[in-house]
Amino acid sequence: MTSSRRKLVAGNWKMNGTFAANGELVAALLAQLPRDGASVLVCPPAPYLQQVAGLLTGSRIALGAQNVSEFDSGAYTGEWSAPMLREIGCSHAIVGHSERRTLFGETSERVAAKTEAALKAGLIPVVCVGETWPERSAGATEAVVAGQLGPLMGRVNMAGIVIAYEPVWAIGTGKTATPAEAQAVHDFIRRKVGAVDAAAAAGLTILYGGSVNAGNAAALFSCPDIDGALVGGASLKAQDFAAIVRAAAT
Ligand code: 13P
Repeated sequence: MTSSRRKLVAGNWKMNGTFAANGELVAALLAQLPRDGASVLVCPPAPYLQQVAGLLTGSRIALGAQNVSEFDSGAYTGEWSAPMLREIGCSHAIVGHSERRTLFGETSERVAAKTEAALKAGLIPVVCVGETWPERSAGATEAVVAGQLGPLMGRVNMAGIVIAYEPVWAIGTGKTATPAEAQAVHDFIRRKVGAVDAAAAAGLTILYGGSVNAGNAAALFSCPDIDGALVGGASLKAQDFAAIVRAAAT
């Protein structure tokens, strides 16, 4: 499927950073990122969102959170809501990252509720899906991804979200899905969404995530249904992240 979808390169800093390190990283990004081309998003830890919002003022880099509550306000100790994220300058929020699903028990139903809350507040949710290695080995990749997408479809406007396909076995392992393996799942996701909303599917940004680096990004981005990347480790190194952004622009 050919398209005019603009590529997006997103950095998920995970639970890393200090005031000093964030300042250095953002300064280096502002110096090294190309002036145009792919859209760029960074997702720092919540305590640093306001700091990074300030550092990004006037730049073309968008700001996102790594998680968001499904509730708007109230007695939910330790949580933060989509309206709060909007107020401090976020445009995006990662939802349902595999680390949230496996380490913090987020179900696909809860991920759908969070996605809905984010959309309602005007955030663009970056919804993560992906299979484990045993699931892939068992030939269950499509069934797993379909199961993760299921609660979303029919509940949220799929035209308002970004999907990130992140095979769990490729996250932080240095083991990337081959471009062909990733493309096959991206195509599956687009067809699945297309079955309920053809226009949304055609415009849907589907990111690949899992050990993306400066060396493998270009080949992934050359696939017709890979619209960018959600980058973990390499997003903490300005030079590597900038190289990935440049690879998305060509
Ligand atoms: P790595 O790029 O470190 O494999 O992490 C991927 C990821 O989980 C991004 O959300």
